[in-house]
Amino acid sequence: MKKNILMIVGSMRKESFNRQLANKIKEILGDRAEVSFLEYSGIPYMNQDIESPAPNQIVRIKDEVLKADALWVITPEYNFSYPGVLKNLLDWLSRPLKENDFSSGTAVKMKKVTISGVSGKSAAGGARKKLTELLKLMKMELMETPQTGVALTSEAFKTDKIDLSQTDIDALNQQVDEFLKFIGE
Ligand SMILES: Cc1cc2nc3c(=O)[nH]c(=O)nc-3n(C[C@H](O)[C@H](O)[C@H](O)COP(=O)(O)O)c2cc1C
Repeated sequence: MKKNILMIVGSMRKESFNRQLANKIKEILGDRAEVSFLEYSGIPYMNQDIESPAPNQIVRIKDEVLKADALWVITPEYNFSYPGVLKNLLDWLSRPLKENDFSSGTAVKMKKVTISGVSGKSAAGGARKKLTELLKLMKMELMETPQTGVALTSEAFKTDKIDLSQTDIDALNQQVDEFLKFIGE
């Protein structure tokens, strides 16, 4: 049975480099996994006043995450960390499945996950490091290495098209192979 991987892109931008990277990962995965993308641009800000009953969109995203065999988070770096939109999503996903019942688990607890990122010079190193800490705190089963970090060239910033080097492609291939093993292909 093919595993089903849910991609979570930490950018809302239409021409997002991180979404372009996610598409490349999907292409590399080919027919070795089922791939879908979590669409969460319309979810509200976490606010405990509206947590219960959960908004429909939150019910939907929790359901999609629960159904996935594994998650792949692909994130930009904003000021040495991951963007607020991604933190907001993860905050919703960190909440108990049953209201006020902290023994009921969460949609992400023990979920297998891996991280990649595209940014400026840092190759999303700061974002990936902080996200590594957060996902472990959320008790996710994180494949900590390898991760793929892509540093954008000045040409890419001009054209809005990601230009992956052979080193980037090799790193992605390695991460794909390792992650498929990790999730028990
Ligand atoms: C608010 C903001 C802060 C940023 N901070 C960093 C940073 O700390 N390090 C870095 O390498 N790039 C930084 N960048 C550049 C983004 O990571 C880069 O533009 C990335 O490609 C955006 O991802 P996207 O194309 O998927 O939206 C920042 C961009 C923005 C908008």
